[in-house]
Amino acid sequence: MCSSEYPEYSGILYVIKCDTIKPMIIQIISLFPEVFLPYLNTSMIHKATTNKAVEFRFINLRDFGIGMRRRVDDTPYGGGDGMLLKPEPLVSAIEAAKQNVDSDKVKIILPTPRGKLYRQSDANRLAGQLDGLIIVCPRYEGYDERVINWVDEQICIGQYVLTGGELPALVIVDSIVRLLPGVLGGEKSAEIESFQKDDHSIEFPQYTRPADFRGLKVPEVLLSGHHARVDGWREENRTV
Ligand code: ADE
Repeated sequence: MCSSEYPEYSGILYVIKCDTIKPMIIQIISLFPEVFLPYLNTSMIHKATTNKAVEFRFINLRDFGIGMRRRVDDTPYGGGDGMLLKPEPLVSAIEAAKQNVDSDKVKIILPTPRGKLYRQSDANRLAGQLDGLIIVCPRYEGYDERVINWVDEQICIGQYVLTGGELPALVIVDSIVRLLPGVLGGEKSAEIESFQKDDHSIEFPQYTRPADFRGLKVPEVLLSGHHARVDGWREENRTV
């Protein structure tokens, strides 16, 4: 239960305890789990972890590799360049990840250029309805297509091709975690910012001190302290 009516005094600040809010469990399946740590241990995402809004777990795909050499890839049927991730290690890793979460509200996501283009509305939807997320990061030239039978959504983060799913996974994680309850400092910032409604509206430009930087002046209206005029200026200066 959230004890917001009777906050606990810790000696420095009042702490609102909210025992019912469970962290979202995000599990990432990758051959290179170490690439995630520097980013996830920084700034807002790190704060979200320490505040228990989110918990990350990393699953090394290599641990599910086949045989003595823990093989995860093989050549494509029909020929072609490069290697494909084999289905058995990927599916075993997904099954292991699913067993780690005690909820049905879990989605398995596969970043792939063949997926649906990712938008802000997807981040809102995923942040709002899930207890857990499992992101499978492909590498090499791709993966055996049969794996998609174990995946809920295939997501493309943009119309370009990257070397693996790790960067798309970070993009997806970042866009979701910042929307989880209590993560953003200013409650309104997620509402007013760019792309909130997928309508291509871009957030208005913002300025901070000094008011005159090398002759470049902050628009006069923003210095006026007149809230209605500031709001009007911001509305006019959204690029649609
Ligand atoms: N893997 C490689 N390129 C990608 C992209 N643009 N989106 C998602 N996954 C990818």
